[in-house]
Amino acid sequence: MNTYKIAVLAGDGIGPEVMEQALRVLDALEKKHGFATERTACFVGGAGIDNCGKALPAETLAACEAADAILFGSVGGPKWDSLPPDERPERGALLPLRKHFSLYANLRPGICLPELVEASPIKTALIPNGFDILCVRELTGGMYFGEPKFYGERDGEIVGIDTLVYKKSEVERIARVAFEAARGRSKKLCSVDKANVLASSVMWREVMNSISAEYPEVELTHMYVDNAAMQLVRHPGQFDVLVTENTFGDILTDEMAIVCGSLGMLPSASLCEGADSFFGLYEPSGGSAPDIAGKGIANPIAQILSMGMMLRYTCRETAAADDVDRAVRAVIAAGYRTADLATGAAGEIRVGTAGMGDAIIAAL
Ligand code: IPM
Ligand code: MN
Repeated sequence: MNTYKIAVLAGDGIGPEVMEQALRVLDALEKKHGFATERTACFVGGAGIDNCGKALPAETLAACEAADAILFGSVGGPKWDSLPPDERPERGALLPLRKHFSLYANLRPGICLPELVEASPIKTALIPNGFDILCVRELTGGMYFGEPKFYGERDGEIVGIDTLVYKKSEVERIARVAFEAARGRSKKLCSVDKANVLASSVMWREVMNSISAEYPEVELTHMYVDNAAMQLVRHPGQFDVLVTENTFGDILTDEMAIVCGSLGMLPSASLCEGADSFFGLYEPSGGSAPDIAGKGIANPIAQILSMGMMLRYTCRETAAADDVDRAVRAVIAAGYRTADLATGAAGEIRVGTAGMGDAIIAAL
């Protein structure tokens, strides 16, 4: 029987409660599909600071290194907001993990299911059947990590400096991930840049064009990021796969998440190629939602779908991964709704965090 080692980093806020449901669903999938996981629970984020003095404790990093995949909850909360930015849970844990494991390919699927169009802030008439977008965000380059990075005094004036730098090789590898993804979907790829202003974007666009020669079956288009931000709320259904650099991807994926109806539905995978599958960190796209933490009302679907992405990309348990997606669609179609998804429509079955977990397990 195949056994996978998983580092479980539930983190803060709603992280632990939605993680609990994802692990229950994973238990059910192991029984049904005949594989096993060895799980190591570790502190991260605010929980890391409180228990070990650091957002990313050394023992947590060691457990991640020993694992095949990292299943991540969410980090951060008001308790740690007064710490210096570099030590805060979000930056102190996530960015070092991404860099340490070279998790350069961030897949963020934005699916607005037909049953949930009413939950989207977009007029239903514009998205009658929902939509399904995959954003491929470059995750280890650009302004997040570029040097020089500086905040201080220079020539008698306080300045803040970030550097948007990309190497050609970094753009090539993310381009290939995006073209591969597009080839497996509708064969349409839209690359988002700011080539009318930025040198890094001119290079990005040229590299996208040159890699496109390797994928003649995929139709490549380009769009400026300001226009893409606007098109996402005007007509999201025009997009299939998007590929973009780190900062643009950060902003566009939050926008994409909310036009889907709820942040509680969207998973993500941050990947780097391993020997015969991907090493990855799998986490919900939304945050730790401290305002609703501990109440048992958070939507666990993003965490459950992230676990499903782990089964797909790291474990290669495709049947089990498909099963997760199918079960989530089935419970939504059957009317199960956590508070974030509820519109008050007839036939809705209101559930909390554990109730949604129960429904998904029953649908398996
Ligand atoms: C995200 C988050 C992170 C980012 C923060 C928490 C560092 O916003 O994953 O989108 O900016 O990448
Ligand atoms: Mn973000």
